[in-house]
Amino acid sequence: MSKLPIAIFVSGSGTNLQSIIEHCEGGKINAEIKVVVCNVPGAFAIERAKRHTIPVILEDHKQYSNREEHEAKIIERLEPFCPELLVFAGYMRLVTPAFITHFYNKKKKLPGIINIHPALLPSFPGTHGYESAFEYGVKISGITVHFVDEGEDSGPVILQETFHRLNNDTLDKFRDRGLQIEHEIFPRAINLYANNKLEIRGRYVVIKD
Ligand code: GRF
Repeated sequence: MSKLPIAIFVSGSGTNLQSIIEHCEGGKINAEIKVVVCNVPGAFAIERAKRHTIPVILEDHKQYSNREEHEAKIIERLEPFCPELLVFAGYMRLVTPAFITHFYNKKKKLPGIINIHPALLPSFPGTHGYESAFEYGVKISGITVHFVDEGEDSGPVILQETFHRLNNDTLDKFRDRGLQIEHEIFPRAINLYANNKLEIRGRYVVIKD
């Protein structure tokens, strides 16, 4: 099976991007990063992409008067790269229904955008998953990889993995333990997508043998 062409969307430090790059370069997943898309000038993720000679599309949303114009520019610049999956790896922007529809993967009959969220959805959606779960005092938290739909962190769940809050945890220790899991399950989810192992039944994502 040929490698799935993917685009990684980032806004921050890009540790997930780094992990996906390494999994791709090491031949551990059946995908190739064609381009990285970033909305934050100076984000360290840009540097990571450049070190691996991956093209970067930088479009600062603050330079646009509305979401539609920003997305239209991204769609235009992505076109030559023909991505078959968009991977939101710490991309801190909500996208419009039109954008989601545009990237629907007709070949695979699957949504064409996936996201990683640092909590066990549907608990603690939004931008501060680790902080919210930690402040709430949960004993068990986790990581969710899910399809992107019109809501915020509300699409069908692809993979979830749990970890424990320990008595002497600080927020940093708690987050570090979660990030290690992120770096493992996100590439795994991409590989399942690439190898046609995913099927959505209702809201439930079946992982086929
Ligand atoms: C991760 O915790 C991810 O779950 C969340 O944003 C963070 C991005 O981290 N959506 P990084 O930029 O991959 O280091």
